[in-house]
This record gives sequence, C-alpha cells and structure tokens, in this order.
Amino acid sequence: MDNHLDNGLAVVALVPAAGRGVRLGAHAPKAFVEVGGTAMVRLAVDGLIASGAVDRIIVMVPADLVETALALLPGSSVTPADTVQIVVGGAERTDSVRAGIAAAPEATHFLVHDAARALTPPRLVAEVAAELRAGHPAVVPALPVVDTIKSVDAHGVVTGTPARSGLRAIQTPQGFAADLLRTAYATDVPATDDAGLVELLGAPVRTVPGDPLAFKITTALDLTLAETMLARLAPAPIGPLS
Ligand code: C5P
Repeated sequence: MDNHLDNGLAVVALVPAAGRGVRLGAHAPKAFVEVGGTAMVRLAVDGLIASGAVDRIIVMVPADLVETALALLPGSSVTPADTVQIVVGGAERTDSVRAGIAAAPEATHFLVHDAARALTPPRLVAEVAAELRAGHPAVVPALPVVDTIKSVDAHGVVTGTPARSGLRAIQTPQGFAADLLRTAYATDVPATDDAGLVELLGAPVRTVPGDPLAFKITTALDLTLAETMLARLAPAPIGPLS
C-alpha cells in the first residue's frame, strides 16, 4: 500500500459494512455475503488496497461480527496499528461512518466506500483520490441515469419528472477533505450518502465518471450479476503444462 504520509497526506478509507442487508434476502449481513466464494467486505477492502491510493482502511461492522471480520481480512486488528482496522458500526449508515471518522484523527482525506460495491475497479478509487490530492474538497463517481426518474407523493402519485440529462446516479468511493467530512458529520441530519451532508454545508461536490462495475449489490438480482461478472473478470486458472 502506498504511503502518502511523506507528503503530509493521510488518506483513510472508511468502509461501512454494518448494515443488515434485508433487501438481499440472505442469512448473513450483506457485507458478509460471499460473491464467487469471497465475502463482499473482503473484495471491497482488496480493491482499496489494490488502488495504491489509501494509507489506512477502517471497516465498520456489526458488534457481533468483529471476530468474523478479523478472520476475513488479512492483517486486520481492532487497533490503529495495522493497515486494516475493524471498528463497531451503528444503527444507521451515518452512525457507522461517524464511528469510522472518530477512529481516524490523523486523516487529511477520507474515502467512504460501501462494502456492498464489492466489484469497484481499483482504478476508480485511484481517480477519486487523485482529484482530492488536486485540491477538490469533495469528489464522487457519477453515472448518467438510464431510467426516467419521477418524484411521487405519499400515495405514489407522480408529482414531477426532472430532466434526465441533469441527473446522475452516484456511487462510491466518495472522497472528502477530512475536516469537511468531520464538520458534515457534526450534525445529526439523516442522509443516504455522505456527499449529501457535505452539500448541506454549501461545499462544491465534484463528479468524476463512475463505473458500471461499482454498482451496489442490494438485491438477489444484483448478487447474480456480481457472481457472473466476477467469474468473467477472474483470470482463468492455470492448467497443467502439457
Ligand atoms: O443499506 P445500504 O445498501 O444503503 O448500505 C450501504 C452500505 O452501508 C453497506 O455496505 C452497509 O453494510 C453499510 N451500512 C452500515 N451501517 C448501517 C447500515 C448500512 O455500515 N447501519
């Protein structure tokens, strides 16, 4: 793993993996469900390490799965001494991210990356980190939206149709100057993504092109897609020499 501390930067990746993942319909919490024989959280952490863009990784997990996470993630511990640190997450995703922020007082930059985006290419992680190093305080991967998106009221009746050309689907890793994310999380406003909290502070959020492989594994259909893609991406096993 690259060490950016030499130039005064400490890029810390926060991996929220403490969700129960009921929409997936699996028995284990989502981040611990296997894709191609490897737990999603392990795939996500391996991708962060492979990016060469982070100095330390903090993984937030359910309290009853700390030991499981330690066994799944090589070189991990519950102390900041190791590259991969396991901490206990919270009831909501924001609580989990807040726990990760608190565990990294040394961070100059954070990359917040959902364990459920297990197939995210390391190149995308490196691109977000590069934009942070270039001085942008908040950076998110974004993809054009393929469906028409409508707003609806509480009864499901359509209230509006925003122009699709101006909409983007946002992925992770989301990158932030550390103090900006600390300030954003000092409030207790619920949000489905971290950039949403930063936007409330009026900070500019830059987008970089996302990647279809960074999709969030949420439903059983997503899991099937992830299995298929991982099998295609994996190098073919080396057979016996003839
Ligand atoms: O539920 P959702 O798909 O939005 O979760 C996104 C990520 O946030 C997942 O990796 C999940 O494990 C994590 N999460 C968490 N703590 C929670 C809820 C979700 O770390 N309380």
